[in-house]
Amino acid sequence: MLAEIEKAADFVLRKIRSKAEIAVILGTGLNTLVEIINDPVFIDYQEIPGFPVSTAPMHEGKLVVGDVQNKKIIFLQGRLHFYEGYSMQEIVFPIRVLKALGAGKLILTNAAGSLNKEFLPGDLVLIEDHFNLMGSNPLIGKNCDEIGSRFPSMNEPYNKKMRDTALSISKENGFDLKSGVYAAVTGPSMETKAECSMMAKMGAGLVGMSTVPEVIAGIHGGMKIIAISAVTNLSNIFHSEPHTQEEINKNAAKARKNLENLIINLIRQI
Ligand code: HPA
Repeated sequence: MLAEIEKAADFVLRKIRSKAEIAVILGTGLNTLVEIINDPVFIDYQEIPGFPVSTAPMHEGKLVVGDVQNKKIIFLQGRLHFYEGYSMQEIVFPIRVLKALGAGKLILTNAAGSLNKEFLPGDLVLIEDHFNLMGSNPLIGKNCDEIGSRFPSMNEPYNKKMRDTALSISKENGFDLKSGVYAAVTGPSMETKAECSMMAKMGAGLVGMSTVPEVIAGIHGGMKIIAISAVTNLSNIFHSEPHTQEEINKNAAKARKNLENLIINLIRQI
């Protein structure tokens, strides 16, 4: 596994010339955030040896590198999901490549449904903890000791210091940033009312189909992680209409301005 990661990282490094300390993953409907990058270099996932290619709607499948706040940042425009048929190990391959490229800090974004009536479409919510309800884990199989330990601690997967920084950025800039627990499901079918009600009772405020495998692999590799959900829809407990991709994209676009502000300031301060 290590050889494949290094091969992909070497390929990217030859194009971008120097390593980057921070990486950002853009979720559904949030691809246009790459507009904040100065002099971006775009690399298609297809070009990178060993990189799986995203097939999800609104996911571009490009690695984008450039300067933000005079720091070199790598963006992944489009992530891989379990529902696309990839293995857990394939889903987290890009995370491991980012770590090999020097990224010790990871900013994750996603689109999520709300299980909490305080979280409304267009809101930004900081993930403070998660439930892995995907029925699998990217670390299943032989452990790669060079990357991390067999049983990595999940005591604080979402870095407290970075979360506090994000909360003070939101206060200083006058936008709302809530905090909640994210429940990760496989999808692609949306959750039933009974499933939503179970997750809400367990204490989850958000539901989505990504992020948690990336967090597990990132923590395994020693990365510091912050994750932000853009609430794109109310889940079925508050909502009786079927969800549409248009609704999800429209609400992701609503959250974009504050998310851009938050990410720019996080890059400056972390
Ligand atoms: N459920 C699961 N994943 C999602 C949702 C949802 O309601 N909204 C955006 N991604």
